[in-house]
Amino acid sequence: MRKKIVAGNWKMNTTLPNGLSLASEILKNTDLPKDVVLIIAPPFTHLSDVSKLIKGSNIKLAAQNCAQFDQGAYTGEIAASILKSVGTEYVILGHSERRAYFAETDAVINTKIKLTLANQLKPIVCCGEVLEEREKNIHFDIVAKQLKGMFDGITPNQFSDIIIAYEPVWAIGTGKTASPAQAQEMHAFIRINIEKAYGTELAHNIPILYGGSCKPSNAKELFVNADVDGGLIGGASLVAKDFIDIAKSF
Ligand code: PGA
Repeated sequence: MRKKIVAGNWKMNTTLPNGLSLASEILKNTDLPKDVVLIIAPPFTHLSDVSKLIKGSNIKLAAQNCAQFDQGAYTGEIAASILKSVGTEYVILGHSERRAYFAETDAVINTKIKLTLANQLKPIVCCGEVLEEREKNIHFDIVAKQLKGMFDGITPNQFSDIIIAYEPVWAIGTGKTASPAQAQEMHAFIRINIEKAYGTELAHNIPILYGGSCKPSNAKELFVNADVDGGLIGGASLVAKDFIDIAKSF
């Protein structure tokens, strides 16, 4: 059985006190199904405190990004090894906002995936097309190209620690969700791509999350699909009850 995962990407939201109270609220909900993995990704500055707060619970900690360099003179950047040292377990990489606002390419994301894995962190790797690409009907080509570039040189052994998130950019923060059929179609396509590169077992085991305006009202119809293993949640992860309700939607 594949893991069911709901990950909350807080993005650049919450002050430290707000973030700690959001994490505490989420923590109060211990009645989640045992087979669901709950991950929260607060801003960098909160990681150390949130890590202490959730220690021993069923909530896991993610960062939203890491540097493309190992360590050293890179003012303002945070290395994977630093993230590891404060109790981080996962790192979101290749988010469309990083691609759009910080010019991240598949090659840069590839380097970050390797650094993340080298530091025993699990990458949550994002892919997805923009609206224009879907309208031109090239969304499958775009996602295939992203996967190929991002996973270049990743060995099957390393691959077992990876989570993929399909996030159609036109659905992120827009209130527009991909239909369950659109999500399933792309998730199945991603899994077939992984199967071609890494074989049936790894393809079968890799969790593929959907992201883009996922909320309590639509999570069930998305998660019920055979290849949708959960969600990467933005806006709705900032409200503890909504986040938990999404996690109860399997
Ligand atoms: P959203 O964001 O749920 O607010 O659309 C999802 C994401 O960017 O991961």
